[in-house]
Amino acid sequence: MKLTAKIASVLSILGLSVALSTSVGANTSDEKIAERIKPLGNVCVEGDDSCGGAVVAAAAGGARSGEDVYKASCAACHAIGVAGAPKYGTSDWTDRGAKGIDALLKTAISGINAMPPRGTCAACSDDELQAAVQHMMDSAQ
Ligand code: HEC
Repeated sequence: MKLTAKIASVLSILGLSVALSTSVGANTSDEKIAERIKPLGNVCVEGDDSCGGAVVAAAAGGARSGEDVYKASCAACHAIGVAGAPKYGTSDWTDRGAKGIDALLKTAISGINAMPPRGTCAACSDDELQAAVQHMMDSAQ
């Protein structure tokens, strides 16, 4: 039962909607409802492995790599170029790169137009943001 709930919450974190609870015959409908709403109160904090091992980019001490930060916080916009965001793996980053890493890091921290301050990663250190910017610059083609 507890394992089922964990699996259900892990699946829902992954955005999958699987009718797990309905296949467990013993559930009352109250239990089903409880299971459906449970994942909302079951957020896994980075580095916390007590919630089923579905921790993305567990930062067990030490800075995360630019790639990890990019995937977790920047790709949402930069992978496809949302709202004019310089797109990963394209010449967009050759153009931006001309500004130099220092200038780019400064705007990444302060935000600019549709680019939110720190790219929405309030918990990222300046070094982690710089690594993420570098990761995107390195993708330029
Ligand atoms: C909500 C969407 C969004 C997210 C999330 C986001 N960005 Fe951006 N980013 C943008 C947009 C839009 C621009 C283009 C802004 C402009 O020049 O008008 C941009 C531009 C940039 C630039 C270029 C700044 C300059 O001086 O030209 C850098 C560097 C950057 N983002 C880094 C990051 C990093 C690092 C992350 C993740 C930690 C991140 N962004 C996450 C939308 C986003």
